[in-house]
Amino acid sequence: MEELVSVILAAGLGKRMKSKYPKVVHKVCGKPMVKWVVEAAQEAGSKEVIVVVGHGREMVEEVLGDEVKYAYQEVQLGTGHAVMMAEELLPLEGMVLILTGDTPLITSDTLRKLLEYHISEGNDVTILSSIFDDPTGYGRIIRDESGNVVKIVEEKDASEEEKRVKEINSGMYVVDIAKLRAALKEITNDNAQGEYYLTDAVEIIRNMGGKIGALAGESEEIIGVNSRVQLSVAEKVMRRRINEKHMENGVTIIDPDSTYIDAEVEIGRDTVILPGTILQGKTKIGEDCEIGPNSRIVDSTIGNGCNVMYSVVLSSSVGNNVKIGPFAHIRPESVIKNNVKIGDFVEIKKSVIDEGSKVPHLTYVGDAELGKNVNMGCGSITVNYDGKQKHKTIIGDNVFVGCNVNLVAPVKIGNNAYIAAGSTITEDVPEGALAIARSRQTNKEGWVEERIKKGRL
Ligand code: UD1
Ligand code: CA
Repeated sequence: MEELVSVILAAGLGKRMKSKYPKVVHKVCGKPMVKWVVEAAQEAGSKEVIVVVGHGREMVEEVLGDEVKYAYQEVQLGTGHAVMMAEELLPLEGMVLILTGDTPLITSDTLRKLLEYHISEGNDVTILSSIFDDPTGYGRIIRDESGNVVKIVEEKDASEEEKRVKEINSGMYVVDIAKLRAALKEITNDNAQGEYYLTDAVEIIRNMGGKIGALAGESEEIIGVNSRVQLSVAEKVMRRRINEKHMENGVTIIDPDSTYIDAEVEIGRDTVILPGTILQGKTKIGEDCEIGPNSRIVDSTIGNGCNVMYSVVLSSSVGNNVKIGPFAHIRPESVIKNNVKIGDFVEIKKSVIDEGSKVPHLTYVGDAELGKNVNMGCGSITVNYDGKQKHKTIIGDNVFVGCNVNLVAPVKIGNNAYIAAGSTITEDVPEGALAIARSRQTNKEGWVEERIKKGRL
């Protein structure tokens, strides 16, 4: 194949999104739309990708980084004008794949087929088209009696007869670069929208004697996202694709319709995902886990054989055979090692919980380091905040913390120590000691009867 370069048009604001942000940075399954398109172009064999940016260019550039080149379109005068802005970055000859940043569902398979068809037919322009039951809003592919593509007409410029055509322009093309350069010189803005239409290049190249073709692709891949409703449609299609990929890799998903997995999430074999589970960002889940129901895991690593139910895990790392939940909240920068149990109504924040430790119920652990085989009794908490600053709690191995204990940080509990239930610990506890920090119980015998006699009860 000839050397392939791609141009992706992404300068528009996307008015119909009603957004402060440029349309193409809106995410589909956690990945900005334009990034999906760039990756599809790269996977289809395009070493060089040029992105035409304009509205919110800083945001688009931040999302794509320096993997691509940028052309700048200061004012958005139309798709033809956008390609003109990229012209000086194009090689003198060869072919260019032209795509739009708002079609995140396009696959590299389809782009590869388009390129192969372009080459085998010896075309100068090959349009990726599709047959839509409702073609409203799209440019129409106009063919002559013999079926040859003559031109593309935009909806706003189309006659009644042309509007009835169901073959639409996806806005994706392969074009011979030399022919494109010649055509760009001739495009005008003499049309209903006063824009320089890239679509006019088709008729211009045909009139120069060029060969035009169109290949019909799956309508699902071609959906352009112009509104939030269309964004949700794209999200749904992408979600189905992602879920199917995991199922093909050996993951059980009980109800794909209620399972939301971002593009970059990895899941090991024989893990079962229960309904209502949301896995986001760079989350990685091991083998033989049971995740859900109703759990959200973001940017976290979960080892093998874990169970996370009705819980939230954020930016943390979890070892093997860990049980979390129901109703636990693991906040960022926590490290939970192997064989730990985090039970119901427990919050862990920026803490290390070493192997075999148990935090089974109603506990807050913040800015703490728990050693191995620690048991945190029900209702025990680290008092990590003095109103101004956060302080650390360090708990050694095999420590038993009784129920309803306050560990007022900064504080250290030595290995093998016991803390009596109900204690408020403000000083370090030595290794192997029992710490009791509560007033001794006194029972006043006959107190109730006396009170009644005095008429006070
Ligand atoms: C375009 C096509 C239409 C096709 C449809 C497919 C033209 C004239 N029309 O229409 O035939 O059916 O896509 O979705 O090409 N852009 C720029 N600079 C501009 C204008 C647009 O970068 O000056 C970018 C936009 O950011 C967007 C893409 O080009 O990513 C398409 O622009 P849009 O305005 O959505 O074109 P459509 O009206 O959908
Ligand atoms: Ca569009």
